[in-house]
Amino acid sequence: MLTIALSKGRILAQTLPLLKKAGLEIADSELNSRKLILDTNLAEVKVIIIRATDVPVFVQHGAADMGIAGKDVLLEHGAHGLFELLDLGIAKCRLMVAAQSSDHLQENILKVATKYVNSAKQYFQQKGQPCEIIKLYGAMELAPIVKLSHCIVDLVDTGNTLKANGLIPLDHIADISSRLVVNSASFKTKNTQIKSWINAIEKNI
Ligand code: ATP
Ligand code: PRP
Repeated sequence: MLTIALSKGRILAQTLPLLKKAGLEIADSELNSRKLILDTNLAEVKVIIIRATDVPVFVQHGAADMGIAGKDVLLEHGAHGLFELLDLGIAKCRLMVAAQSSDHLQENILKVATKYVNSAKQYFQQKGQPCEIIKLYGAMELAPIVKLSHCIVDLVDTGNTLKANGLIPLDHIADISSRLVVNSASFKTKNTQIKSWINAIEKNI
């Protein structure tokens, strides 16, 4: 049996066609059900669809053998106990520092609103910039407007969300796309099966 953890939301829509091309299909009746463990066209493969941030946790602990998650989520998690084996090239964006202007970054102690606490801490530490991180779970762009923070660390794709909220992208932290990750123990015990999935997926990206 092989269990694959998929991220709900934006990544899922782009993941399903990739898996289909590789030979793995999940019927709409399964996708639209309230079940948490979904059957696929293959008796030996099950899929779980969970919050993006939970994917590395399930894979790290071997509750899923493989998973698909954004690099943002993997950087934040630390990716312990799992191997990142494939860049799927989907859900591409950038992790960036944004503020109303570059002047807003000139602070002795920079207040940073973000859900990427670890990535932001590490980035400003490397720059030697003292900071106070304010953890938010969404709508980061609001924080500088209401003076909760001097800047934010968030994902940027088109830049429309920043622009609509009077913010500009300033510093680039990392390029983001979705990655296929594998539990390190499963990679040994189910090596043939996992490698054949990686090959099948790789051919179609
Ligand atoms: P949750 O609902 O669990 O809090 P979320 O709102 O971050 O998660 P999504 O918006 O579906 O979930 O994003 C999931 C992943 O998609 C992110 O981890 C990132 O890798 C990627 N992503 C997020 N925003 C964008 C974007 N604007 N453009 C491209 N990819 C993005
Ligand atoms: C993501 C991210 C930004 C936005 C960036 O939010 O947190 O707000 O996309 O994309 P853009 O540069 O193309 O505007 P998302 O739409 O996933 O909403 P969420 O933060 O509520 O998850």
